[in-house]
Amino acid sequence: MSIFKALVPKMSLKRPLAIFIMGVSGVGKSTIGSLLAQQLTVPFFDGDDYHPETNITKMKAGSPLNDDDRHPWLTALNKLAKEQLQKNSCIIACSALKESYRTTLHKDIEANVKWVLLDGDYELIHKRLKKRSAHFMPDSLLRSQFDTLEDPIEALKIDITLRPEEIVRVIEEELFEKSEIGVIGMGVMGKSLARNLASNGFSISLFNRHLPGKEENIAAKAVQEFKELSDAKPFDSLQAFVNSLQRPKKLLVMISAGNAIDSIIHELVPLLSQNDVFIDGGNSHYDDTQRRIHLLSESDLHFIGAGISGGEEGALKGPSIMPSGNKEAYKLIRPFLESIAAIDQNNDPCCSYIGPDGSGHFVKMVHNGIEYAEMQLLAEVFEVFRRSGENNDEIATSLEAWKATVNSYLLEITIDILRKKEGNDWLLNKILDKSGNKGTGNWATMASSRLGVPSTMISAALFARYIASFKDERITTSELYATKIAPYRVDTDELRKAYEFARIINHVQGFKLLYEASKAYNWSLNLSDIARIWTNGCIIRSDLMETLVQVLQISKDILLEASFISKIKSLYPSTTKVVSECILHEVPIPCLSEALNYFNGYKTKNSSANLIQAQRDYFGAHTYQRLHDPSGKAYHTIWKNSSTHD
Ligand code: 6PG
Repeated sequence: MSIFKALVPKMSLKRPLAIFIMGVSGVGKSTIGSLLAQQLTVPFFDGDDYHPETNITKMKAGSPLNDDDRHPWLTALNKLAKEQLQKNSCIIACSALKESYRTTLHKDIEANVKWVLLDGDYELIHKRLKKRSAHFMPDSLLRSQFDTLEDPIEALKIDITLRPEEIVRVIEEELFEKSEIGVIGMGVMGKSLARNLASNGFSISLFNRHLPGKEENIAAKAVQEFKELSDAKPFDSLQAFVNSLQRPKKLLVMISAGNAIDSIIHELVPLLSQNDVFIDGGNSHYDDTQRRIHLLSESDLHFIGAGISGGEEGALKGPSIMPSGNKEAYKLIRPFLESIAAIDQNNDPCCSYIGPDGSGHFVKMVHNGIEYAEMQLLAEVFEVFRRSGENNDEIATSLEAWKATVNSYLLEITIDILRKKEGNDWLLNKILDKSGNKGTGNWATMASSRLGVPSTMISAALFARYIASFKDERITTSELYATKIAPYRVDTDELRKAYEFARIINHVQGFKLLYEASKAYNWSLNLSDIARIWTNGCIIRSDLMETLVQVLQISKDILLEASFISKIKSLYPSTTKVVSECILHEVPIPCLSEALNYFNGYKTKNSSANLIQAQRDYFGAHTYQRLHDPSGKAYHTIWKNSSTHD
């Protein structure tokens, strides 16, 4: 999160910058730095002036500095940059050769730091250094500096064969006339994320395609409509949009998942160059993301798949963000994503690097799977209350009281929905009971099936939506199979306990799916950190998620954690009672009952799977193992006359 919001005089940016002019000795850091500072009327600092005396003595004696020597120097420069940023922008000349040095230099101020690498070949720099007499750096150290330099992909690289005035002009043009990031797609999410980026002081370009008669001047209209976007540059030409971005170019793409992403990649690749980053912020399938990462890497480009949760409001005020792909490339976009993300209880951003490949989109897909089951559980609770004769206001009042024990964003919005009136009636009563879906619940179900993980609550919630979609058939069967159902009044507290139980099982299953995927695909997912970035900004944020951050630090299996064992034991009797009563009274509760069935199955020591194995062996000679033979030997039986073979 950017901590400096002051307006910078002269520059077009809304936040001050510390511009580090970096490179090996002899590239002209001080010359360029002071020229640039004059041009921008901001202070210039030569990093060499901040070396402790011991370092200067060491260098004069011809010995290279080690990392321990450099540490106090880098920390002093970081402190200097922080102090300056409180007042204004500044320019600092500093070699900053290693990534770890740059990490120290930009500590806590990453979003306000820009790197400019003065780039030249050894021979040229060597010649320049030889001409210098007053400098304390002997040219014999130049080779070691070249060897130490770790490629700063985040830096604007400028060829030192240009004249100093030209170099300064390029820096000005790149850093102050061009935009730091571009947003493609001015739909609800794209527009809101663009506004969020602009509110955080980033300079942005906006692109929306031009479809005559359908989508015309969309980006320009967004700039007119929202005051935060008044400095944004709007485009409907992709080439001009790309040209308006600073190098390496960062593009946040917010368009429909699927073919549209492949089409825009196809158009963009010829316009981009090495280290540019394409961020797909939509709900793309993780396999597609994986394929696109490979495709772009062939052109030395980066593709980051970033799951973004929180809907329109989250996108505008702070979503939860789940980015994955090349870890180096993530560093290029980290300041942007972490600045716009929601913050957790400790003020840390609800955004962190998830892992390689399409793991970010996988994690977002599981988020949505959990979301499906959470929504379905609330729908079932609503149905149970309704069958108990309560009206929407009464249900809202009961749910209001539940906030003390089982609060979540989805519970809160459900209460609002239940209370919403249109005329004399509740709006909810006028909504057609056919639920839609955009596919992520389906993908989560397929992924769990592919991995052999029983995410039964996600699939139950998905199939409940599918059942609901067959409205005409439901009308017919409701008449054909009409029965006289005995009146049923649920005990509110017992229903609350069943709901709490089912929510725990939903999270157990969701994190189990993540754990197994991480193992199968070698993603090294940090489950606790994923829970942490789901504590704010996203749709499934809840008190339970806060608790899970700690639990998942200790154990990957929530069901084995002591506090959950006692909690589940205390909720279990009410869950059994509520589920049984609902079934007796014909209330459809696929998710509540699945939570119980899953749990009962999971705690059954000797299951009926022995019969399944025998059946498989009977008709297909698939063999089976025996309980009392730990060797795992395969047995086959001729079942009709009962003879057994090894
Ligand atoms: C979010 C949501 C968001 C959206 C999904 C689910 O995290 O902000 O999950 O991504 O609501 O598209 O949509 P469906 O319910 O239509 O599948």
